[in-house]
Amino acid sequence: MERCREHVRPALVEAVARLHPWTGEMAAYALGWAGPDGRPEPGGSEGKGVRQALALLGAEAVGADAAEAVPAAVAVELVHVFSLLHDDVMDADALRRGRPAVWKAYGTGPAVLAGDALHARAVGILAETPGPHAGAAVRRLCGTLDDLVSGQAEDLRFEDRPWHGPGAVTPAQYRTMAEHKTGALLGCALALGALLGGAPERTVTALDRAGRHLGLAFQAVDDILGMWGDPQLTGKPVHADPRRGKKTYPLLVALSGGGETARELVALLSAPRSLDDEGAARVAALVADAGGRAATRDEARRHLDAARRALRDTPLEPTAARRLDALFTHVLDRTR
Ligand code: IPE
Ligand code: IPE
Ligand code: MG
Ligand code: MG
Repeated sequence: MERCREHVRPALVEAVARLHPWTGEMAAYALGWAGPDGRPEPGGSEGKGVRQALALLGAEAVGADAAEAVPAAVAVELVHVFSLLHDDVMDADALRRGRPAVWKAYGTGPAVLAGDALHARAVGILAETPGPHAGAAVRRLCGTLDDLVSGQAEDLRFEDRPWHGPGAVTPAQYRTMAEHKTGALLGCALALGALLGGAPERTVTALDRAGRHLGLAFQAVDDILGMWGDPQLTGKPVHADPRRGKKTYPLLVALSGGGETARELVALLSAPRSLDDEGAARVAALVADAGGRAATRDEARRHLDAARRALRDTPLEPTAARRLDALFTHVLDRTR
């Protein structure tokens, strides 16, 4: 991922430089390049760069040069940052990449606007891609944006659904939500890289499917890190999900088991917004006891298997295929 980041950064810097100075300043802050005063601040977190790496590997996997996929890498990374800016407003999360979220540092209105600016630039960059694939690439990205917004809508609507009984969120509904909010963009990253690399439609579709499953695994691990992760490593709050009434996979599994543990959980979660630190830690412990953590790792593993199966019949360049496989493994074991 480091190699890919170095490759993409100059184009990302150029894209941000084309924004209005104020939205550009917020984007530079979100990307870890500047402090909240707009001055260069080395050492900020740029994020893991999973999506840009997938775009470059998508191109290399179909035998193209990584350079072909740079516009795709920039576009998916900008869409990702845009989605984070808006997501932190929606989730009322104050910490992102180890620093105050953009809405905390600059205000909610400015953070929404900076997200809009990144969204627009992402589409613009793909539309300006030289060669014959710009139109197809923009169409793909727009479909992904539709999915991402649908996933965020489902995620928010689930907050008000009951924890158990009739009306509770089912695992199938959770998967649809997670595929939309997270899987679609990971699939798009791989697919766009392959598309700009000149791959046939069948290959592009297979890579999209693999990326979607990877995204489902990624989100399952994100749910684990949100409950048992170390904020020093993730740069994000811990225990925020149960407090917001978020229907994450570990919670759904723990509650579906019934019994005394589920009853205690429902009692604690019935007033989620007033869960104190002790209550939130108790929720995490109960969910782990009920098998929610282990089941979520299994869920992630199943989706990684499905991602690998999706690529089984697609001939890919061996070095890139190996790197892609290593990235799949990393998603399960990550701590940040
Ligand atoms: C966070 O994504 C949002 C999700 C889709 C779960 P990442 O964990 O990739 O965030 P950064 O880019 O590394 O900060
Ligand atoms: C992930 O949302 C998807 C998007 C940001 C679009 P989450 O709310 O689950 O991710 P984190 O945990 O805040 O990064
Ligand atoms: Mg969030
Ligand atoms: Mg969210």
